[in-house]
Amino acid sequence: MPVASDQTHFGERAVRLDEKQGLVDGVFHKVAGRYDVMNDLMSLGLHRVWKDILAAKIRPSASRPFAHLDVAGGTGDVAFRVARAGGPLTRVTVADINADMLRVGAERAKRRRLDGRVTFLEANAEALPLPDGRFDAYTIAFGIRNVPRIEKALAEAHRVLKRGGRFLCLEFSRVDLPVLDRIYDAYSFAAIPAMGKVVAGDGAPYRYLVESIRKFPGPELFAEMIAEAGFGRVDFTRLSGGVVAIHSGWKL
Ligand SMILES: C[S@@+](CC[C@H](N)C(=O)[O-])C[C@H]1O[C@@H](n2cnc3c(N)ncnc32)[C@H](O)[C@@H]1O
Repeated sequence: MPVASDQTHFGERAVRLDEKQGLVDGVFHKVAGRYDVMNDLMSLGLHRVWKDILAAKIRPSASRPFAHLDVAGGTGDVAFRVARAGGPLTRVTVADINADMLRVGAERAKRRRLDGRVTFLEANAEALPLPDGRFDAYTIAFGIRNVPRIEKALAEAHRVLKRGGRFLCLEFSRVDLPVLDRIYDAYSFAAIPAMGKVVAGDGAPYRYLVESIRKFPGPELFAEMIAEAGFGRVDFTRLSGGVVAIHSGWKL
């Protein structure tokens, strides 16, 4: 259902743009402690493969300085992969609006002995407290659909990248295979909230996650939005029958 220009979606509900972020934050405050285990359960472990594919596209230098920004980076999954792929001069900043998710991420970084190269910053993707032209690459994984003003986040991504820097976004997309789409719908709307209830004690945040996937623009439209933000050579790859897509663009 289309919404008015000062409105957006929070799952199935139309809400004011300035109301959405608080609602999203409430979801991630609730799930932070169980986020990683729920990710494995809900995606049957596939999120690890998708994140490996995303990180493999970045190719940080093994010997030269490389500055990477992972926005909506939560508990650090993508950041750790990029830090490990790079050399000793690779530095990764995880920016996320939610202090609870960042706290879990910082503890995980310490356990992995990556805390010297991965730092955590509380920040809104729509207004990053970071200088222009600072980063070699920018990733956002399963984050952008939660951001109320996607165009602002894309403009910020473009601003903080160096010329020649790459934008990569991993996000749920549109399943476009017959039969698989029905299985996927049944699984998403019935099984995922039920799992959330059993494992995390509340099904509502997981209902939001499933509904928000359906409201996110299709891959062609999202590619247009990335190009409108100023990126060149924009393309996307569908993975797992379209369950997710990786969009890419370059600051030329
Ligand atoms: C589904 S999690 C993804 C975490 C991580 N990237 C991953 O793939 O495991 C979504 C994250 O987006 C963050 N988020 C939501 N709105 C945001 C915003 N406006 N700016 C920055 N982060 C945001 C949430 O706090 C949450 O940590």
